[in-house]
Amino acid sequence: MTAPVPSPKRPPRRLVELGLTLPDPASGDLLLVGCFEGEAPEPSRLPPALREAVARLAGRAGWKGTAGQLAETDSGDERVPRVLLRGLGKRAELHVRRLDKWIREAVELAAQHGVGTLLLLLPDHALTSGAKPVGRIARHAGLALYRFDEFRKRSEEPEPLTRIELLVAEVDEAHERELHVATEAARGIATARDLANSPPNVATPEWIAERAEELAAELGLEVEVLASEDMEIKGMGGVLAVGGGSLNPPRLVRLTWHGAEAPRIALVGKGVTFDTGGISIKPAKDMDEMKWDKSGACTVLGLVQAVARLKLPVQLSVYTPLAENMPDGASYRPGDILRTYNGKTVEVLNTDAEGRIILADAVAWAAESNPNYLVEYSTLTGACVVALGSTGGGLYSPSDELAAALLGAADTAGERLWRMPLWPEFREAIEGTHADLKNVAGRWGGANTAAAFLSHFVGDVECWAHLDIAGPAYVGEGGDAPRGATGYGVALTLEWLRSLVGD
Ligand code: BES
Ligand code: ZN
Ligand code: ZN
Repeated sequence: MTAPVPSPKRPPRRLVELGLTLPDPASGDLLLVGCFEGEAPEPSRLPPALREAVARLAGRAGWKGTAGQLAETDSGDERVPRVLLRGLGKRAELHVRRLDKWIREAVELAAQHGVGTLLLLLPDHALTSGAKPVGRIARHAGLALYRFDEFRKRSEEPEPLTRIELLVAEVDEAHERELHVATEAARGIATARDLANSPPNVATPEWIAERAEELAAELGLEVEVLASEDMEIKGMGGVLAVGGGSLNPPRLVRLTWHGAEAPRIALVGKGVTFDTGGISIKPAKDMDEMKWDKSGACTVLGLVQAVARLKLPVQLSVYTPLAENMPDGASYRPGDILRTYNGKTVEVLNTDAEGRIILADAVAWAAESNPNYLVEYSTLTGACVVALGSTGGGLYSPSDELAAALLGAADTAGERLWRMPLWPEFREAIEGTHADLKNVAGRWGGANTAAAFLSHFVGDVECWAHLDIAGPAYVGEGGDAPRGATGYGVALTLEWLRSLVGD
């Protein structure tokens, strides 16, 4: 049974308020200037006292601008009393994730300095200049102090850093729009992270469904929650089988944002609240990380929040099949044959390949409404992490148009995504012996055969995509960000939806 941990009312948000300002005049507690290695800083647009302070710092003996190098001084200008120069490393070696990490660290540094308002100035570069890059930087800056500390003793002191102003050459409509979107994207990502980080003894399928209902009430979304009885009537044998071994019964949630009649978009997110592997049980090492097996569901919930708050003119339905995969006398077993929502039968060979089984029902249900696009997010396979590492997700789509749009959006959003193959051989590999399909094929190409399995459930929808987010959904031990959920996918999907409606 669920342990007696208090259920959090509203998980905490540590998001910093964001603003845009011209370099002159500007006011704040600290100006932090980024500077490439071997290059002079670019403070030309700053007021004279600040320009001089920056030049003084860059002229100090030993200043190189190597990544993370610091130099600090008083400015003599009371509007911005302190100036900090921080090295960005070599211009040619800067890439998007390195910059994003740099931003995160810079904001943390300012917070440690007890700064209230931070001004941030970066040199001109493809990754730092223009409305879109500024939006991406703003999003990272806003999230830099995000912590999941609902279950820790928290200090009563308020966080000193409350505002970050990005110094830009132009404060026009395009920049303002990107800043507004970045603020809502950061909130959506924080929601996704809060939900995904919540522990499995709290975040049961029922609890996530309740959070979804709360979001719906707050945002004016249509909501439908299917419980076991409803799924029995509908013939959703996949979710019922996977959830069958748990005392926490499964759910299937649909939320719909009616921002316009068209385009109609369906997003599906895997919500395994804990994946022990079931009867095909996983090894003990790192099994705790399987609380993040609900990340796909959390991503689509965070996303619908951002879309509704931004009032995007789309009709967006998000679907989350929620189940806990446990070993028990009532568990499904290897050898079982299940009937899924679209009538296809599945022979279970391994109960740890449970994601595709719950997704079979949810994707088929989503496809029934004949959306223009159907995109599904899941921490589906370890094989995808072996292939791509934990940096980015794997993209599977039969549609070159949709694939290109998603890859382009990911690029703009600064989330890594890489296209993977949907060759017919993989579909052949998962044909069943005694049922239509089997839930695992051989050892090789495990992420690809998983994607091929899902392709059986999209019905007549041609523009569909599957994102295997097992790598980037969370940062485990030894990662390059604080351990926890990342909210991966919210930013790229928001960017893609905006591109569909010309925003
Ligand atoms: N939830 C896991 C996939 C996973 C692995 C996510 C590592 C995040 C990090 C999934 O349900 C699973 O166990 N997949 C199996 C499939 C296998 C049995 C065919 C896997 O990847 O080993
Ligand atoms: Zn599994
Ligand atoms: Zn899983």
